[in-house]
Amino acid sequence: MRSFYESIGVNPRNRKEAIEISKLLEIPIVMLDFYNEHQILPFENHLTIINERLHISEISLKIRMGIIDSDVRDLLLHNEDYLLKQYAQKYNKVESLLTPSFQTELGKLFQGDCLDLLKQTGSETYDLIFADPPFNLDKFYLSNYDDNISSIEYLNWCYEWINECVRVLKTGGSLFIWNIPKWNTFFSNYLNNKLLFRHWISVDIKFSLPIGGKLYPSHYSLLYYSKGKPTTFRPDRMPMEVCKKCFTDLKDYGGYKNKMNSNGVNLTDVWYDIPPVRHNKYKRRKEANELNIKLLDRIIEMSSKEEDLIFDPFGGAGTTYIAAEIKNRRWHGIELGPLDDIIKRFENIEEDKELLRKYRRNYNSLFPIEIKNKRMQLNLWTDESFNEVEVKHSPL
Ligand SMILES: C[S@@+](CC[C@H](N)C(=O)[O-])C[C@H]1O[C@@H](n2cnc3c(N)ncnc32)[C@H](O)[C@@H]1O
Repeated sequence: MRSFYESIGVNPRNRKEAIEISKLLEIPIVMLDFYNEHQILPFENHLTIINERLHISEISLKIRMGIIDSDVRDLLLHNEDYLLKQYAQKYNKVESLLTPSFQTELGKLFQGDCLDLLKQTGSETYDLIFADPPFNLDKFYLSNYDDNISSIEYLNWCYEWINECVRVLKTGGSLFIWNIPKWNTFFSNYLNNKLLFRHWISVDIKFSLPIGGKLYPSHYSLLYYSKGKPTTFRPDRMPMEVCKKCFTDLKDYGGYKNKMNSNGVNLTDVWYDIPPVRHNKYKRRKEANELNIKLLDRIIEMSSKEEDLIFDPFGGAGTTYIAAEIKNRRWHGIELGPLDDIIKRFENIEEDKELLRKYRRNYNSLFPIEIKNKRMQLNLWTDESFNEVEVKHSPL
């Protein structure tokens, strides 16, 4: 996929070229910038001019810009045999195989580029894939990964590893992609005709400062897709929310209190309880992006069983691998940069185990035991109240 400017032979970084082409086509530069910025096919009158003066047809422009509509699909179908032969020649080369740099009984950690590892991995290998790539926000990475490339380059790179992830995912397996909403809209569009859409999960975390003229960005997006009907789907149930100070209800459950499941409430697609790992003291890697193990615990619990095989193409501080190990799942991982921080984290795995034990104590019951005791002392209802004669309703 190329940007609009690249598709008509203009270097997007060279303003002079853009101005010249605008004069040649007699199309205002603001319109050309608009098509380029939003990756939109030019309006019909402009398409005609581009065709006449640059000899680039509408379909050719669509292919260059990666706009795959029914015209392009028909063209591909007509030439399918030829294209598949070309593809096989390009990709059926034998790559030099990567070998793991660190291993446990359950997992293998590689150092290198995830695309190399993916290309040497057989189709239908993994039960669960979680990917948290760099977001192209100009952050520093120990691996010297360039986190400030053009949008088109970033999207093309992402489509390449996403494509491979789809291939190596088992039928019935689940794919999760963590990113800012801007990029996940593209990935979602890309995945919609490859996998089954399950959820767009919003995780409430503020990720930048307020931006003038825009809403304050306040959630990360977690895309959840599966290859056909998911083999495993068993989300944790959550405790009922209560006031942290006085333990009273935060919502009005009206006459439904006695119908509430004593194992907890259904997990929704908006997660408010995943704090960021912000403070340097708690970070295993001195970069900005280690995820909370609580997030990985929830995903792994929901979409895999013990001994399933999990893959994460972007190691970072190794949160996925540690969570998988603790939860007795097999795992494969890779990181472009140094692996020392991940290996050190395995040496201190008891710290993460303790953290997970603490988080998991609260799941799958309507009230964690401490909350239940407090509410009983205050004569507030609990799931055990409904055999009793009088129930005091807590104020909202
Ligand atoms: C956002 S971080 C992942 C953080 C991780 N989820 C955690 O919780 O610790 C992305 C990581 O991907 C690595 N990376 C970038 N490009 C890569 C590639 N092509 N192959 C493997 N790792 C890559 C970066 O060095 C960085 O450590």
